[in-house]
Amino acid sequence: TALPAAHPLASGRTAQSPLVRALRGDRPETLPVWFMRQAGRSLPEYRELRVGTQMLDACLDPELSSEITLQPVRRHRVDAGIFFSDIVVPVKLAGVGVEIVPGRGPVLDAPLRTRDDIARLEPLDPAALQPIAEGVERTVQELGETPLIGFAGAPFTLAAYLVEGGPSKDHIRARTLMHADPETWDALMTWAADTTGAFLRAQVLAGASAAQLFDSWVGSLSLSDYTRLVAPYSARALSHIDGLDVPRIHFGVGSGEVLAAMRDVGTDAVGVDWRIPLDEASRRLGGRTVVQGNIDPALLQAPWSVLEAHVRDVVERGRAAPAHVLNLGHGVNPDTDPTVLTRIVELAHTL
Ligand code: CP3
Repeated sequence: TALPAAHPLASGRTAQSPLVRALRGDRPETLPVWFMRQAGRSLPEYRELRVGTQMLDACLDPELSSEITLQPVRRHRVDAGIFFSDIVVPVKLAGVGVEIVPGRGPVLDAPLRTRDDIARLEPLDPAALQPIAEGVERTVQELGETPLIGFAGAPFTLAAYLVEGGPSKDHIRARTLMHADPETWDALMTWAADTTGAFLRAQVLAGASAAQLFDSWVGSLSLSDYTRLVAPYSARALSHIDGLDVPRIHFGVGSGEVLAAMRDVGTDAVGVDWRIPLDEASRRLGGRTVVQGNIDPALLQAPWSVLEAHVRDVVERGRAAPAHVLNLGHGVNPDTDPTVLTRIVELAHTL
């Protein structure tokens, strides 16, 4: 398959956008900027719209998911929307009992720990992804020349939630399982790769002009465990969009040790957290990979003069890479003043 002819990228609508150009290794006149978690609780219009609707129900309502995706694009004039959804949406659509508990994150009805728990996982019926495709279609119609980023959780980050049953600090049970029972680990990670891969594919086919794989919790892994027991499944997840020519971004938190290995699963750009400066990240990537990041989200709460100096420094260091997409080093905190985000966009567009 190729992208449908009417797809925003295939039809040329988003092909010259600063985001797509930068992800393809170019330096467009304006530095593209967007923010992880740009849609969400930092926006009063989001909080208002979400009243009375559970997080995952909002994700499965195409009208709501589309409107919430558009809110930060209208407000901040960022260079991309990111589809409002969650990494556990495809897990839920495959029949696993999971909810998102406000202030905590994804929590399962029951953790999946034994061989039998994992053998009972069902494949995701592609028809269940219809509300996602519809949400994306509505969104890209409104976005026009602004690209939409589709995303999915990487298999390891999903497995960390599935095995632990919820958020955890070091993902100890998941990391034990990969060594204690490699066969069960393989079954779990294969299921996670195909489930999350189908979710990503649905967004790309429906109109996303870029795809970001979030391996948020990759920082708890050694390089050798990552390379042997995790990376092959991330590659498998991405293989679901093989042949669909959209640029790919791969992001993790605490990923300094595994940056190049994350690039090597088959992505065009690497998202860097706030712990290593972009010139150092670029050095670790051999100077040949587009980088995305890495404003420290903590500085969003600092006085503007401090934040501005930091943003300028991030942009300066980003020049070490072939191209740069400005972003945070992780998501927007709910207590961030959204006017600060707008100001960063204005600044980035003058640099
Ligand atoms: O604006 C965007 O970035 C798009 C939407 C998006 C959400 N989750 C919405 C959301 C994206 C890309 C995600 C991905 C996601 N979800 C990741 C990877 C990115 C990252 O932050 O590392 C992870 C690890 C999750 C799991 C998850 N879901 C967490 C940790 C939380 C936060 C819990 C909390 O309340 O602090 C969620 C819930 C969630 N996902 C919210 C949003 C806007 C908050 C829910 C709410 O508003 O009630």
